[in-house]
Order: sequence, then C-alpha cells, then structure tokens
Amino acid sequence: AAIEKGGYDHFMLKEIFEQPQTIYDCLRGRLDAVAGTITMSGVQQYAEQIMQANRIIMVACGTSWHSGLVAEYIFEELCRINVEVEYASEFRYRNPVINKGDIIIAISQSGETADTLVAIETAKEKGAIILGVVNVVGSSIARISHAGAYTHAGPEIGVASTKAFTGQLAVLTMIALKVGYMKGTINEARYRQLLNELNEVPEKVAWVLNHHEHIKKIAEKYKDARDFLYLGRGYNFAVALEGALKLKEISYIHAEGYPAAEMKHGPIALVDENLPVVFIATRDAYHEKIVSNMQEIKARKGQVISVITEGDEHSASLSQDVMVIPEADEIVAPLLSVVPLQLLAYYIGVAKGLDVDKPRNLAKSVTVE
Ligand code: G6P
Repeated sequence: AAIEKGGYDHFMLKEIFEQPQTIYDCLRGRLDAVAGTITMSGVQQYAEQIMQANRIIMVACGTSWHSGLVAEYIFEELCRINVEVEYASEFRYRNPVINKGDIIIAISQSGETADTLVAIETAKEKGAIILGVVNVVGSSIARISHAGAYTHAGPEIGVASTKAFTGQLAVLTMIALKVGYMKGTINEARYRQLLNELNEVPEKVAWVLNHHEHIKKIAEKYKDARDFLYLGRGYNFAVALEGALKLKEISYIHAEGYPAAEMKHGPIALVDENLPVVFIATRDAYHEKIVSNMQEIKARKGQVISVITEGDEHSASLSQDVMVIPEADEIVAPLLSVVPLQLLAYYIGVAKGLDVDKPRNLAKSVTVE
C-alpha cells in the first residue's frame, strides 16, 4: 500500500498532488492553444444539437454536482444557453419536464452512481441527448450516454473526490469554450485568451501545491472549531460549497457553504470569535463585493481565512490567514481556488487523527438509490 501511495501518507494527498498531471492529461490531445482548436470527438458529434439547445441540464451528485454548478456559470456566460443543475435524486423523482432537444450532461467520477444512472435513463426515454462527463472508462453512465468526454484523471481511491473534480471542470470548460466559439457567443480574442488560460492551469496548480506548507499550520490552528462557514460568489460560489463538503467529509466538522451575499440572510447570526469563515476571494468581477463581506465578518470578530490572488494585499490585510493562488481569469479560477481547500480539509482531518482516505459512513460510489 505504501508503494501504491507513491510515498504520500494517504491516497487523498497523492491525488491532490497529482492534479497538475491529471489536468494536463485531460487537456492533452484536445486543447491546442497554438492552433486555437479544441478536439473532442464525442462532443463534435452532437455539436449542432448543443448549439441549438434551449436548455442544458446538468445531473449529478456530491462533488460532481458542484462541478455542474461551476459549469452552469461558465456555459451561460460563454454559450448563452440556459443551464439547470439538478441533484440526480431530485430530478428523477419529480417527473421532470424534458423537451425534445434538451441536452443532459451527466457528471460522475465513478460512472456508477445509481441516482445519476436512473436519472439519465429516464431522460433518455423522454428524448433528451445525454452527454457523459465521466472518469471511469466503460462505466455504466459512460455506456448509456449518447456521447461524452472522459476526464482522464486516473483511478481515484480517496473517498473524498479531488482530482476527479478538477478533471470535470477542465472537460466542462473545454466543452463550453468549443460550443461558445462555434456559436459565436464568444469572439476569437476571448476564445484564444481562455484557451491560453486553461493551458496554463496545470503549472498554476503546481505553483499552488508548492506553496502548501503553511496550510498545515492553518489546519492546526483551526482544527478544533465546531463549525466552519465557506463563502464565495460567482464562479467561486460552488467552490465554497465544495470546500465545505471536503471539510465535512474528512474532518467531521460541521461546515456550510453559502453564496457570500446570502450570509446576511441567516449565517451571519452564527458569527462570533469562534467561527472560522473561509472566503474564496480571488480577483474577479465581484471582488469589491466580497471584500465588503469580509469586512462585515471581521467587524463581528469572526476569524477570516481567505483564498486570494497573489499580491492582493488589501484582502490579505482583512484576513487572519491566507491561502494564495496565482493570477488567473475568473473562468478558470475554480480549478485553482479549490486546491488549497482540498489541502485544508486534508490537513485538518490528519491533525484530528482521522482516517482521511476512508471517512466513516461514506462510500466512494453510491450504487444504491
Ligand atoms: C459519493 C462520493 C463522492 C462523490 C459522489 C458522486 O458520495 O463519496 O466523492 O462526489 O458519490 O459520485 P460520482 O462517482 O457519481 O461522481
């Protein structure tokens, strides 16, 4: 087992550190930033239908559902197509409205999650086109989908999903870029710029991982907190949900993710000097807004921990502790901002002496409904 873990203490840590390579593997052979092309044969087959779709419905569970939420923002921005993101279990049990030509994107690491599988079987019967974004090759969801794209993240052993999530984001971003460019909803310059941004993600993730040592210290400092709040806006909203989910899964600390502005409608009542609040506050179009949310938490003596862009001294000055990512376009920022949160959850779990690779009560793949 020590050999399988490649010198890391746990599979989860190994998988977090594999991300520069797994994201690279996912882009390789598809994204050509010099030629300005994205090659995805499965998607190409249904390109016309996707461009003409009135609606895309993302169906998934758990961490995969979070990547669907990030993709919702990306598709709506780049492709101007209405996107719904559904929990597979809720979608299938409520007699969903599916119109001919609706595109369903099923997102799943294992490709075996029962709720997701049955949800797409139902949608397929009703005439939807099913695209699978799946990690495990030849899995049930991959087989039942009309077409799709594999995430190529390799086997994920840690129960808490890490590299599969960033693989899903990379695939979904490529699909959105391809469709948006073909539709003409993004122009050549923006398309080219985003191809370059995506292409640079593996080395930027490597940079984040090279700056991880102090995250251990942050973990030590906050490991005994009873609750955590994670706040993000826009593309980073779903990253807040994913950060909170990682912490719950691995450390058994109660954590909630919220859109930052919604904190005023409830969570702010919980803020006192004992509550760590993690802000995903990388530089983007809504940055000033999230800075004022940070000020509000600070004024109420909450402990502000933030994920910020390198060189953002102002946000750093509002935070007790910071985790830094390199400058990146807001569309690709979630691929970077999630990484310190994976590490924070991991190190808190380890500091508490827990079995981070196999947290209690959880399964890697939930094959019962
Ligand atoms: C389980 C796993 C999660 C995963 C979810 C969905 O809950 O513990 O890590 O995100 O299932 O799994 P899938 O394989 O469909 O992505």
